[in-house]
Amino acid sequence: MKLLLENAHIEGIRYYEIYRKHGGYRAAEKALKMAPDEIVEEVKKSGLRGRGGAGFPAGMKWSFLAKPEGVPRHLVCNADESEPGTFKDRYLMEFLPHLLIEGLLISSFALGSNLTFIYIRGEYAWIVDVLEQAIAEAKTNGWLGKNIQGTGFDCEIHVQRGAGAYICGEETALLESLEGKRGNPRIKPPFPAVQGLWLRPTVVNNVETLAAVVPIMNIGGEAYSKIGVGRSTGTKLISACGNINKPGVYEIEMNLSVEEFIYSDEYCSGIPKGKKLKACIPGGSSVPIVPANLLFKTAKGETRYMNYESLSDGGFATGTMMGSGGFIVLDEDQCVVRHTMTLARFYNHESCGQCSPCREGTGWMYKILKNIEYGKGKMSDIDLLWDIQGKIEGNTICPLGDAAAWPVAAAIRHFRDEFEWHVTHPEEAQTRNYGLAHYAEPLSTVTV
Ligand SMILES: Cc1cc2nc3c(=O)[nH]c(=O)nc-3n(C[C@H](O)[C@H](O)[C@H](O)COP(=O)(O)O)c2cc1C
Ligand code: SF4
Repeated sequence: MKLLLENAHIEGIRYYEIYRKHGGYRAAEKALKMAPDEIVEEVKKSGLRGRGGAGFPAGMKWSFLAKPEGVPRHLVCNADESEPGTFKDRYLMEFLPHLLIEGLLISSFALGSNLTFIYIRGEYAWIVDVLEQAIAEAKTNGWLGKNIQGTGFDCEIHVQRGAGAYICGEETALLESLEGKRGNPRIKPPFPAVQGLWLRPTVVNNVETLAAVVPIMNIGGEAYSKIGVGRSTGTKLISACGNINKPGVYEIEMNLSVEEFIYSDEYCSGIPKGKKLKACIPGGSSVPIVPANLLFKTAKGETRYMNYESLSDGGFATGTMMGSGGFIVLDEDQCVVRHTMTLARFYNHESCGQCSPCREGTGWMYKILKNIEYGKGKMSDIDLLWDIQGKIEGNTICPLGDAAAWPVAAAIRHFRDEFEWHVTHPEEAQTRNYGLAHYAEPLSTVTV
């Protein structure tokens, strides 16, 4: 079932007339007749969890929004999308801009935001034009601006481009940047729901989260909650890349098995040239890498599904996270040490430098990984790396520190022999691949 991308293939759906002809703004019509609190209740009922990475229930976040008398409130849409491997929001905004605008209108009405922002990564310059055109069309047709559809509700949406910093996707750094300052994360509490943009109560939600409010209004929170499984309700966009035959953005129901997602023709269509699967990072670069032997079945031997609970089954020892849904597949030719080094370089570059465990630790991890990768490492470096990542995790102002530590920890936990091989085979390390012990068993059953 598709709730978000159902109409993505329709030519011209990016434009107001076509979007409207295919049922666009019907959810907004319905919502504008409801009381704001009723909309919040519907979103709560739906079980929708934030699609930006942490999976926090959206309705609950909305209900935390402080409402002091006479103080404006804001909704901010997080379109920074800088997590390596994640490109689903780009797809939504580029092809279905009115779906996002409609979701923003309904959410702004529910939260009482008359001034709403889309903070978008600077590299998505062409999408800024797409969004601004959609905003202008929505305004011309009475869905934005003053007295929307005669309800007395006013709402303006502004698009603000970032300047290329990953850290500005972290919600408080984003707010700092939106205020015109350097994007340094704030210490929490206070949370944005109490003191956010210009210290006013603010809700920050991901693009996909806010777009999902449209189908929730259309089908009702209860019906939405029945799609998927357990606390993983509704559908989820997955951006799939790496060693797969069909990279792209897929909308899945969260009762789909990981094996089917990788091998079925409806989704990734397997691995090119019949190569074997080595590992997968299913939720964007920050989440722990999972070796193939733990990807299709949990440590308890149960089928692993594409949802929040199943992917994290076993904790970080044998599981991972749904994260942002940036699904990266590694085949047998990929080197985990090199891969981990590349990620460490990214996090080191993107650290804002406010806290020393992250500022110094990410640099040390990159340096040590580079030594191991380039045949200059010692056995004791592997333990040193393990030690450093453990000292970063949980000891920083924002979760970028954790995001830098988890990939290193998981790589050592599952592929320690590969690190050791790099130390004992310094010259071959750059030309040979390693990790045979982690290949999956040949597939026996893939039901499509
Ligand atoms: C370093 C870092 C980068 C982040 N980047 C993004 C991002 O690009 N987009 C996003 O929606 N959330 C991102 N987040 C998560 C946000 O802080 C926040 O949790 C999210 O926007 C909330 O929206 P949601 O509840 O709808 O998921 C990032 C977090 C961290 C720590
Ligand atoms: S964890 Fe890293 S990115 Fe986050 S505030 Fe500290 S130094 Fe900055």
